[in-house]
Amino acid sequence: MCGIVGYIGNKKASPILIDGLLKLEYRGYDSAGISTMENGFISNMKDKGRVKNLYEIPGIDDLKGVVGIAHTRWATHGKPAKENSHPHMDNHNIFSVVHNGIIENYQELKEFLVQNGYHFLSQTDTEIIPNLIHYYYVKQDKCHDSLLKAVHLACNDLKGSYAIEVLCKDAPDTLIVARKDSPLVIGVGEDENYVSSDIPAILSYTKNFYLLNDGDFAKLSKHSISFYDVNLAPIEKELKSIEWDVSACEKDGYEDFMLKEIYEQPKSVRETIGSRLKKGEKVNFEDIGFTKETLQHFHKIYLVACGTAMHAGLAIKPMLEKLCHIDVIVDIASEFRYREPLIDDKTLCIYISQSGETADTIAALKLSKMKGAKTIAISNVIGSSITREADYTIYTHAGPEIAVASTKAYTSQITLLALLCLYFAEVLESVPYDVINTIKEELLLLPEKVSEVLKDSEQIKNFANKVYEEKDIFFLGRGTDYTVSQEASLKLKEISYIHSEAYAAGELKHGPIALIENGITVVGILTDPNLVEKSVSNLQEVITRGAKTLIITNQEINQTNYDEVITIPYTNPLISPILSIIPLQLFSYYISKEKGLDVDKPRNLAKSVTVE
Ligand code: F6R
Repeated sequence: MCGIVGYIGNKKASPILIDGLLKLEYRGYDSAGISTMENGFISNMKDKGRVKNLYEIPGIDDLKGVVGIAHTRWATHGKPAKENSHPHMDNHNIFSVVHNGIIENYQELKEFLVQNGYHFLSQTDTEIIPNLIHYYYVKQDKCHDSLLKAVHLACNDLKGSYAIEVLCKDAPDTLIVARKDSPLVIGVGEDENYVSSDIPAILSYTKNFYLLNDGDFAKLSKHSISFYDVNLAPIEKELKSIEWDVSACEKDGYEDFMLKEIYEQPKSVRETIGSRLKKGEKVNFEDIGFTKETLQHFHKIYLVACGTAMHAGLAIKPMLEKLCHIDVIVDIASEFRYREPLIDDKTLCIYISQSGETADTIAALKLSKMKGAKTIAISNVIGSSITREADYTIYTHAGPEIAVASTKAYTSQITLLALLCLYFAEVLESVPYDVINTIKEELLLLPEKVSEVLKDSEQIKNFANKVYEEKDIFFLGRGTDYTVSQEASLKLKEISYIHSEAYAAGELKHGPIALIENGITVVGILTDPNLVEKSVSNLQEVITRGAKTLIITNQEINQTNYDEVITIPYTNPLISPILSIIPLQLFSYYISKEKGLDVDKPRNLAKSVTVE
């Protein structure tokens, strides 16, 4: 939800800012803008639409400033329009501000500012921030650090979430940043410093980062960075080195990030397994270090997340229940947080979030901590907000995921959850060792098998090209295959804009079969030997009613019954979603391409949902 970039150094800021915005565009692409410090005044250039539109703004190439801030927007308050684009300036053109987040009390603050003579040009919540800073700035006696103090006082008045960057005409060599519940990192170069909503956007400039915590402020010059806590007391921060390769954030010859990320899955699954699982050894979660007594103390496990991450939770529930003999509830974070979930200190809550910045997931985590539950965060982003809230954090290590539609994060989340489940079962001694061992062996074979699945892309592409003009596509499965249907259906909706539903195959007769008519496309997933016959019967029922069918299976079935059958390698049904989703990720991808859509940046969506 909105991306922000900042630069202070010796180089011309505008190309660096625009380059950063292009990499952050997955966070929102309703409008974009930059402010740079130009010979004693702040230049502010912005427009609605994609970041590339900035190149069309007259004079943008002539900017010479070496200090600047920039923003790409996912609209919340006010429609996508030039006047609602960031940066926003105060009425006196002294401050320029970019903001990611939502100010919940902006109406109240707006009224206060109007009473004090300020006026507003946009419908955004953000525009109150530069004016509020101005209000406090003029109240100061221009003493040393009045700028930082004014920003601090303004932030004290804000309710909601924010990551902000502030430029001030009177302090041309300074950049002030602050964060609360929205991500912000500072990259350190030589005689230059960078600011960004996430690491990949500035990874080509530096691998050294400071991560800001909620309530932190930072004052940057080109040579120095000073950090302050919520009370403006100076604090120290540890500089972290990030090992990601720059090419991990580039398309690397692929047409789209999504395709690249689909093809990265043999590697990402291998990285997730990493050193946690080695042949013949126990699963290693030393970083969690639960004893048998601790695990026996838990009466239930909650898996809480949003979207695809929640689907990863659904996929692993059967395995956790079967191997650990414990009740598992999978919940949508935005529902969980507003119910009164029955959790206490006998509950283990596991939060899954690729970005680690999803507002609902973080709020749900905070709620369960308040109720005394133990919490584990599963995230892909080192140091992300969720990892700072949870009692324990484990990382998927899938590498940066840039495409808005999540692919490799999902398979890595299930892989990591499967490893965690095996670890629990080993500690609990809840099932015979050979049961655990068989799944461990299967997990180690997964990277190879993922590579094999990816070889079938032509077959998938051909089928996708036949059905890309459909209005509705249905997905059916039972057990873990049903959970894959849900993820496949979400992927298709997101990037092809085709209406789609996923049904538990056995549920079909209870209503949804009324939707099946001649020519409709139904995708069946059949990977569980215990359920395959049942699902085959359900598929027969839709074929009889005229459906054309695509089947993803690792079973011996009568292929002549179906229009297209994709055969994938066999693995234990408890972890089969890691393989069976892959042809369906490609299916959505090729449909979207055939329709000529922007695969990486589907309409109305943003990668990181930092507002509720
Ligand atoms: C779908 C997708 C979203 C995210 C969801 C949670 O392709 O990407 O459904 O899975 O917004 O995001 P994270 O995992 O970052 O919390």
